[in-house]
Amino acid sequence: MSTVFVTGGTGALGRHVVTRLQERGDEVRVLSRRWGAGTHVGDLNTGAGVADAARGAELVVHAASDTRRFGRADLRQTEHLLKAAKDAQHLLYVSIVGIDSIPYAYYRHKLACEQSIASSAVPYTILRATQFHELIGWLMRAAERLPVAPLPLDFRFQTVAADEVAARIGEMTHGDPRREIVDFGGPEVLTLGQMAELWRTERGRPRRLARVPAPWSTARAFREGRNTCPEHAEGTQTWTQFVASEGENPYRLR
Ligand SMILES: NC(=O)c1ccc[n+]([C@@H]2O[C@H](COP(=O)([O-])OP(=O)(O)OC[C@H]3O[C@@H](n4cnc5c(N)ncnc54)[C@H](OP(=O)(O)O)[C@@H]3O)[C@@H](O)[C@H]2O)c1
Repeated sequence: MSTVFVTGGTGALGRHVVTRLQERGDEVRVLSRRWGAGTHVGDLNTGAGVADAARGAELVVHAASDTRRFGRADLRQTEHLLKAAKDAQHLLYVSIVGIDSIPYAYYRHKLACEQSIASSAVPYTILRATQFHELIGWLMRAAERLPVAPLPLDFRFQTVAADEVAARIGEMTHGDPRREIVDFGGPEVLTLGQMAELWRTERGRPRRLARVPAPWSTARAFREGRNTCPEHAEGTQTWTQFVASEGENPYRLR
């Protein structure tokens, strides 16, 4: 049993991480800006409450991210965490597959976080996951309300169940710090058009799809599937299985 400090433990991924760690018998500390949502109240942006929550924790999972303004605050947040967790034995940072080859502002900030962690004295592992089924599910729920859903149908995704990423994080956090980047993806690469058709087969909506032309370089990277890692297709739940089973929508719970 270890004491594990989890940032982002109230998020779509983090809530599964917390459950997985608790199932292993860990004492899990969950940082949140909101009273009652975690075990400790704090804000990585200012650093308030972070040192108290991190004190004495051997292991750290950093799954917090603020996607507003393309994650501009993420580097500052990561630096506050590194300072508070300087004595940790292992910090696992959750990142995203392909961020070093996709020119998207949010990814540029995530890359800066990776570099900050890798150049710190804290032993680390970086787990880059592909997009979660839950994220595309959120997009599809928004799209199904429209008479015609305008989507970049030729983008490629290798979505993975957030809970499977969480299980991997639970194992890796307890392993030795790898001091490297490890990719983890879902079982198959599909276009968004294929995903939308499978969603419609199960749920009857969206009624009509329209391909949005996206000529810019970030879009090209998603069309080329630079956000995928077919050589690490380690998740097992397929998109079809997810769509058939989907209950809660974690991106609407907060
Ligand atoms: N979504 C995907 O498809 C995907 C794929 C691969 C990797 N990732 C990465 O996985 C991680 C988790 O993603 P997610 O989609 O689960 O995120 P999410 O649902 O948006 O949750 C974000 C979390 O960050 C916390 N947070 C944000 N700002 C904070 C602050 N200033 N201080 C303390 N906590 C703060 C939030 O906590 P409170 O609101 O409770 O304070 C919340 O728990 C991120 O690093 C993301 O880049 C995501």
